[in-house]
Amino acid sequence: MLTGKRVLLIIGGGIAAFKSLDLIRRLRDQGAEVVPVLTRAAEEFVTPLSVSALAAQKVYRDLFDLTDEAEMGHIELSRAADLVVVAPATADLMAKMASGLANDLASTLLMATDKRVLIAPSMNVRMWEHPATQRNLTVLHGDGILVAGPDKGAMACGEFGPGRMAEVPEIIDAIDAALRDGPLKGRHVIVTSGPTHEPIDPVRYIANRSSGAQGTAMAEALRDLGATVTFVTGPADVAPPPGVDVVRIETAREMLAAVQAAHPADAAVFAAAVADWRVENASGSKMKKDGSGKAPALEFAENPDILATVSQMDEGRPGLVVGFAAETDDVVENATAKRLRKQCDWIVANDVSVETGIMGGDENAIVLIDAEGADVWPRMAKRDVARLLAQRIADAVGAR
Ligand code: C5P
Repeated sequence: MLTGKRVLLIIGGGIAAFKSLDLIRRLRDQGAEVVPVLTRAAEEFVTPLSVSALAAQKVYRDLFDLTDEAEMGHIELSRAADLVVVAPATADLMAKMASGLANDLASTLLMATDKRVLIAPSMNVRMWEHPATQRNLTVLHGDGILVAGPDKGAMACGEFGPGRMAEVPEIIDAIDAALRDGPLKGRHVIVTSGPTHEPIDPVRYIANRSSGAQGTAMAEALRDLGATVTFVTGPADVAPPPGVDVVRIETAREMLAAVQAAHPADAAVFAAAVADWRVENASGSKMKKDGSGKAPALEFAENPDILATVSQMDEGRPGLVVGFAAETDDVVENATAKRLRKQCDWIVANDVSVETGIMGGDENAIVLIDAEGADVWPRMAKRDVARLLAQRIADAVGAR
């Protein structure tokens, strides 16, 4: 059942738009509220009146409809939903989404939303198989967009093959899975991710090579188990996942402040590569060569250790604190010592020696260290590591 869930349904301009009328009915049968949005092209296939009647809601059609803006702006509209569904998702809508265009109400909502987006593609088989659409699909997968279908079969245009919009029950199942209450529902988890930037002067900084991939995968996996995730991220290469509360910071001290402001939390996962040192005598104006040939002397101060600070909180410590340890030798010994020194509950340790190919690669081989000892995991995709770790976190948080 989808009782109390609000779905923002964007209906694109394709022949399958008629199935969206049935989708509205079935969603409402399951207790969901459906807020419909029609693209201009969709109005050629279904009328606003029929959509509005079935949804028992106002239909949103125009970006510059002043009444709508007065009632509910497009930003608010995009966020007041639990899930955004695009059905049918035309080749044009997919292309707009993949390239970030926002030139009408539907595409603007899709850019502005902080919620998960599920698309049900629908188009002619040639259009579906076109390299441009397949390229866009890859981009959308990478952006965390959920995809239902398309199915294979006879099409309205007389051709046969993949491209037919998924049947309504299949779309409902995908919506149900996206909205399902996971074991971490009602739980708040803080995740840190990415590198930090420590300024030398207004234009230069000290950084590290962290891409943010590990932290992002953790945030995604925890979100998928229903957690409310506060994602505190430095300037990472990987975009933050949808459906999490993103707090962007640059320095270690800003990261600590953001983590403290996000409390209370049921668990905290510290995947960020935080700079150990900051430049204490950072200049307020750009440092220049003075012709003497003398390099400026940078002085360093130690940054706060966020993991240790949170692990050692007297009051309001999260029930479970997880740190990471990237080591090049004596992985288990070093990581075990780190767990005790920082006083976190778990350390996720891995060997990042060049020969393992783990740093910058897609796979990881971790050792999970807790008070009981060390558990060696087989090598697997980083996403799978994140999924299994999130499940362990859910078990531990649930048991507290
Ligand atoms: O001491 P080391 O940097 O190896 O510890 C790694 C773990 O500590 C990671 O979980 C990292 O996010 C965290 N850490 C932190 N604040 C720091 C340094 C590390 O939270 N200043």
